[in-house]
Amino acid sequence: MASMQQAIFTVLIIASGLYQDAEAVTHIVGGATGPGWTFQANDLTFYDTWASKESFNVGDVLVFNFNSTLHDVLEVSTDDLKTCTTPASPIQRNLTSNGSLTISTSGTHAYICGVPQHCTFGMKMTITTVGASTPNTNSTNPAGSKAAVGAIKSPFFTFNLLLGVMLTAIAVATV
Ligand SMILES: *[C@@H]1O[C@H](CO)[C@@H](O)[C@H](O)[C@H]1NC(C)=O
Ligand SMILES: *[C@@H]1O[C@H](CO)[C@@H](O)[C@H](O)[C@H]1NC(C)=O
Ligand SMILES: *[C@@H]1O[C@H](CO)[C@@H](O)[C@H](O)[C@H]1NC(C)=O
Ligand SMILES: *[C@@H]1O[C@H](CO)[C@@H](O)[C@H](O)[C@H]1NC(C)=O
Repeated sequence: MASMQQAIFTVLIIASGLYQDAEAVTHIVGGATGPGWTFQANDLTFYDTWASKESFNVGDVLVFNFNSTLHDVLEVSTDDLKTCTTPASPIQRNLTSNGSLTISTSGTHAYICGVPQHCTFGMKMTITTVGASTPNTNSTNPAGSKAAVGAIKSPFFTFNLLLGVMLTAIAVATV
């Protein structure tokens, strides 16, 4: 009996470890001691360079430190970012100073300042969530294994995993 309880305990510890892994992270766009969300006319890929060093997961929050009398932040299609077009109906927007946007789906997300010309002065960023590559069950394919890691980090997957583990533990305990 003691060893079974120990086994259940171990499984729950492992499951809660995975759950910790899936906790949402808050990213200060441009870095905690960075310039915030503002013109980068001398380095138009400034925010992409910053983003390339971060790991983004679904549920994470992006904080854009800006002054709302000057700027805003919109999530747009990657095509709109490429052409620096401010769409009438962006995917998401935050007009509040130092506003945040949540990454709600896996894949690639594009952000711009919606004030005309500000995107062309470097207020643009493209991010991709961890493990966002097309799911591939081919285990010898590195892209496929990366997708699997991403799936484990998805909060929904983790919740189901945790639930499954708990139900199994209860079922074992009641035998
Ligand atoms: C926005 O964030 C910056 C940098 O963290 C801070 O200095 C400023 O006071 C904040 N502004 C508002 C309106 O919260
Ligand atoms: C925001 O910008 C306006 C215009 O430049 C300025 O008057 C105001 O003090 C700024 N607010 C903050 C919190 O920096
Ligand atoms: C805008 O950002 C603020 C500050 O983080 C947040 O409280 C608010 O919910 C955000 N609004 C939208 C529409 O996301
Ligand atoms: C799996 O991926 C490898 C490497 O990309 C490829 O050579 C192989 O044909 C793939 N197998 C299947 C069944 O897709």
